[in-house]
Amino acid sequence: MKKALLTSLLTMLGVAAAAAPAKSKQERSIDALIAKMTLEEKLGQLYQLGGPVDTLIDPAVRGLLGSTLNIGGGAPAVNKLQRAVMERSRLKIPVIVGADVIHGYRTVFPIPLGMASAWDPAAVETASSVAAAEAAAAGIRWTFAPMVDIARDPRWGRIAEGSGEDPYLGSAIARAAVRGFQGKDYGAPDKVAACAKHWAAYGAAEAGRDYNTTDVSERTLREIYFPPFKAAVDAGVATFMSSFNDLNGVPATANPWLQTKVLRREWGFDGFVVSDYTAVQELLQHGIAADGAEAARRALQAGVDMEMVSTLYSSNAAALLKQGWLSMAIIDEAVRRVLRIKHRAGLFERPYVDESLAAKVTLTPENRQAARRVAGRSMVLLKNDGAVLPLSKSLATVAVIGPLADAKADMLGTWCGEGKKEDVVTLLEGVRAKLPQAKVVHVEACRIASCGEAGIAQANVNPAQACRAEPCANAGIQEAVKAARKADAVILALGESSDMSGEANSRADIGLPGGQLELAKAVLALGRPTAVVLFNGRPLTISDLVEISPAILEAWHPGIEAGNAVADVLFGDVNPGGKLPVSFPRVLGQVPIYYNYKNTGRPFDPADHYRSKYMDAPNSPLFPFGYGRSYTQFKLSGLSLSAKSIRPKGRLTASVDVENIGAREGDEVVQLYIRDLAASATRPVRELKGFERVTLKPGEKRRVSFELTPELLGAYDQGMKFQVEPGKFKVFAGDSSVGGLEDEFEVVAAE
Ligand code: GLC
Repeated sequence: MKKALLTSLLTMLGVAAAAAPAKSKQERSIDALIAKMTLEEKLGQLYQLGGPVDTLIDPAVRGLLGSTLNIGGGAPAVNKLQRAVMERSRLKIPVIVGADVIHGYRTVFPIPLGMASAWDPAAVETASSVAAAEAAAAGIRWTFAPMVDIARDPRWGRIAEGSGEDPYLGSAIARAAVRGFQGKDYGAPDKVAACAKHWAAYGAAEAGRDYNTTDVSERTLREIYFPPFKAAVDAGVATFMSSFNDLNGVPATANPWLQTKVLRREWGFDGFVVSDYTAVQELLQHGIAADGAEAARRALQAGVDMEMVSTLYSSNAAALLKQGWLSMAIIDEAVRRVLRIKHRAGLFERPYVDESLAAKVTLTPENRQAARRVAGRSMVLLKNDGAVLPLSKSLATVAVIGPLADAKADMLGTWCGEGKKEDVVTLLEGVRAKLPQAKVVHVEACRIASCGEAGIAQANVNPAQACRAEPCANAGIQEAVKAARKADAVILALGESSDMSGEANSRADIGLPGGQLELAKAVLALGRPTAVVLFNGRPLTISDLVEISPAILEAWHPGIEAGNAVADVLFGDVNPGGKLPVSFPRVLGQVPIYYNYKNTGRPFDPADHYRSKYMDAPNSPLFPFGYGRSYTQFKLSGLSLSAKSIRPKGRLTASVDVENIGAREGDEVVQLYIRDLAASATRPVRELKGFERVTLKPGEKRRVSFELTPELLGAYDQGMKFQVEPGKFKVFAGDSSVGGLEDEFEVVAAE
């Protein structure tokens, strides 16, 4: 009996072994390396620390530090660290040097929310590719980007870092960013490993307050917050970063459903997950770990492979193993993932960086030109009554007024890497360069209190006072009025300082800070041709400003070429074609407000009081998702569907003509939305399922087509099964998420 059992067991194992794919040479070498490693050396690979390079050499040489973050010092510092490891450590496992290269390394591009406004994945790929080349030349082999968090709440400061409120646009941008950073081989000398962050639903922070609790249904997670992360996995992203937030009662950094079931078992991700900064330690604050050992165990068992900065893995794993709370298999698997990415990043073959490279590839004229071009494509024309814009280049006198007119540091935006304010072209400088013959008068009028150290210190003590712009003193306003009165045209540069958005910089009041509205009212009252340029990191509640301003250009924080890019648009060398990737609320009380909302059982109806509405504001946003104007006009026509009825596994094509009916060349972003009219679970009133930015000459017409596949038409049914359910669908083709051409088709169940 025993012999038969043994024989069948060996047969099964034999079959299993035969069925299992043969391990690659790389995987076998990783296994061989792990077999040689002591526990301390394994834990060293799971530890990441920042700081001056000289403080990192000793732990790295002793095999206790496998990764560093934001060490600065460029290629020489990195080579110094790496040489010590490769020459003096026992196992010579290269360190992987990580950094926050979010929207540029030294050549800083617009903030990601700005780049998302271009609705141009190729522009994002260009920006990420330039950033990768500059960062790699500085010895960085891994960037903590792209940040792909969906954000529906503009109070949240990190809305600036992402791609806005929509999963389809966010997914297209996530793919483009990963392509740009990693290329086809992130072991190449001009590429870096990327990191999809922050996994997951960090942007759903209650009340828009950073690091706050998130409570999101699985349906909303899978339909809204997950898609850009899945897109990053499909694009081959090397790593993920676990987020700070408590997600449905289980903090993401200790959440096995997130880090293992969804990410690895469902999606097949085989890279590694790094925690966010001290997020493992913070499990104690969350109250789901009684001590460091429990926090380490929970994070490791959940599937968070590397601990950023806090030291709970290295200080508790030995005891956890001894007590049987943790298996060596879990540690070995985490180490395997880290070594796998180090191999793919080319670190074993090429541990050092060519120190002559940086001077050749950093802040080159070509990179500056790319930043200027991407910034120009990121700008959104919100209003242009009376065609105030574009301004004439033959103006004799131009007044450039406001706290952001000549604000170098603020143009870089949040998370600006190694960007230096001295590299920045401000709006004032850009206008002067554009109009060398004109008299360009500058009046700051009021200052935006920087949120630098003093501001942040004040924020900790008295948040209500921190980072507020000082009220515009009357003298400042009078000086501005005097200059505006004498000018042929006025440019008002208003908005937020760069550190009023970004991490830990949420705002409970998202109006124009300080006395900028008073300044605008005084200047606009003169009736001179006036354009407002907004420099901000989030949607602002600017209804009053919009009411009194004939022309408004949303420039976000546009990066080092800010002034040239804005001047290109203001004086007509670039026709703005950007569209909003996020809704602008009329008043804060509408937040969260987004275009893909559910209809409810009582949708607004002016004829019926008992409907979902406010007593004191409309339901609609000030500016909707997908909105943006142009210096020319476009017309959509001829929406047609290739079929009016399809099977659940079928697909159809929606086509529409777009024509430039104006007098100058311009870009239009044709947007395709659907609505599933009746499903087993409620569906949004609109879902973006396609977009294309097209450039048309005056009179030119083009037919644009979008394929609607089961993946795009499907949704999670009542039982959370993803499928295309039978029933009627509407299709909308438009220039924003409001209005447009409509058609209908039906999904008919197979007989
Ligand atoms: C920060 C951020 C994260 C960043 C990391 C390293 O706290 O949340 O986005 O990559 O720490 O700087």
